[in-house]
Amino acid sequence: MSDVGRPFHLGYFTGFVPDEWNGPLASGGGDFWNGHFYVELAQALERAKFDFLMFEDAVAIPDTYGGSRELYLRHNFVAPKGDPVPLAAIIGYLTRHLGVGVTMSTTFTLPYQVARLCSTMDSLLGGRFGWNLVTTAGAGIAENYGLDKLPDHDERYEIADETVSIAKALWNSWDEDAVVRDRENGIYADASKVHEINYRGTHFSSRGPLNTVRSPQGQPVLIQAGASPAGMDFAAKHAEVIVTAVRGTEAMKAYRDEIRGRMTAYGRDPDTCKVLFVVTPIVGRTDEEAQATYEALLSSERTALDVLARVSGWSGHDLSQYDLDEPLPEMHTEASRGILERLAQWGTGKTLRQCVREMGFSHDCIDLVGSPDTVADAMCAAIDEVGGDGYLIESPGFQPSRVFTASITDGLVPALQRRGRVRTEYRGTTFRDHLLEF
Ligand SMILES: Cc1cc2nc3c(=O)[nH]c(=O)nc-3n(C[C@H](O)[C@H](O)[C@H](O)COP(=O)(O)O)c2cc1C
Repeated sequence: MSDVGRPFHLGYFTGFVPDEWNGPLASGGGDFWNGHFYVELAQALERAKFDFLMFEDAVAIPDTYGGSRELYLRHNFVAPKGDPVPLAAIIGYLTRHLGVGVTMSTTFTLPYQVARLCSTMDSLLGGRFGWNLVTTAGAGIAENYGLDKLPDHDERYEIADETVSIAKALWNSWDEDAVVRDRENGIYADASKVHEINYRGTHFSSRGPLNTVRSPQGQPVLIQAGASPAGMDFAAKHAEVIVTAVRGTEAMKAYRDEIRGRMTAYGRDPDTCKVLFVVTPIVGRTDEEAQATYEALLSSERTALDVLARVSGWSGHDLSQYDLDEPLPEMHTEASRGILERLAQWGTGKTLRQCVREMGFSHDCIDLVGSPDTVADAMCAAIDEVGGDGYLIESPGFQPSRVFTASITDGLVPALQRRGRVRTEYRGTTFRDHLLEF
């Protein structure tokens, strides 16, 4: 069946970070720790019938760019950042439909601990919890957890595979009908329906069973963003939502086809996993207004520094040492490979300055700038061409703002709804229901 004209999914991606307080889209902001800003954001997304809100995470203040934390702290690049799990619990209580995904590292959490946490969160949220599985790259994180350095890239995916395999076994250690609450015979849970898992792996072992009940979804929605062969393989094996930052419709199509092929090889139905493309739509009342905002955002020195500082932190290479008017020399990284390749555009002869400008909002698959109708048409055209499942909307420079959110929820989404391409009502109750609705 042709995918053209079909409805697609919307997720929103941010961190538990200071909302924009000092840039073109600032809305007061910067004082976000009590979570109120994020509850309001979630409620706005729910009004717009988004599938889910997802929080990124990383657990160190980088000191890669210029060998110091100074730039990161001065401009709030990557840091400071709160732990998104308790925030997700609060959001869950103050929303009714929206899925809430949280990033947790498979390298720095123990399988039993994370399985229990996810199960508890899914129960608290009534079946609306998701786990963004990341293997973690980036400066300073290993040291915060008592290691000299991160395990190598592909080994981190082996560890991740074991963590998730154990977690899945633990989530299934309670049968669906294990809790009987039989008052007559005084039985809360039927012990014959709660099982040990006796998992023995290379990195971890766990006996089980989990000491909490099966959650409404059985397991959280698993989200992943692998870009390397090992990452895509891991995603194809486990994920139900895959988010990607590949650039341009050709690469988007190739990525989705690759994932779907790998899923089939694992015996999974590719339609049970939604591939979402990261975009940062800059929406104005008119095309001209949006273009002016876009230029203001991209031409700011802060944006250029942000790109260099983030890519330095993610890749472990201090990019402050390179001449902006020369191409970036080729280098290898065991950290986050794709992002460095994407910035450098090796082989094209482009200078670092040109590359930084083109990198724009660092994850975007396609650039979207214009009035609600212009952007909605471009989103529909790209998804029809690629055959994808939807978009993950990211705020410029990972800096959420009320102004940006309103431009999406009250500008762009109604234009997409008028075209019949995104939902106008929730039909299911769980995060997974939303994903499998179409
Ligand atoms: C949209 C998106 C969100 C991501 N969120 C996080 C995150 O919150 N924390 C993190 O450590 N990595 C995050 N990553 C990095 C990915 O997990 C992954 O490591 C990266 O895409 C590189 O792929 P690879 O690990 O296969 O090399 C994200 C990537 C993308 C594209």
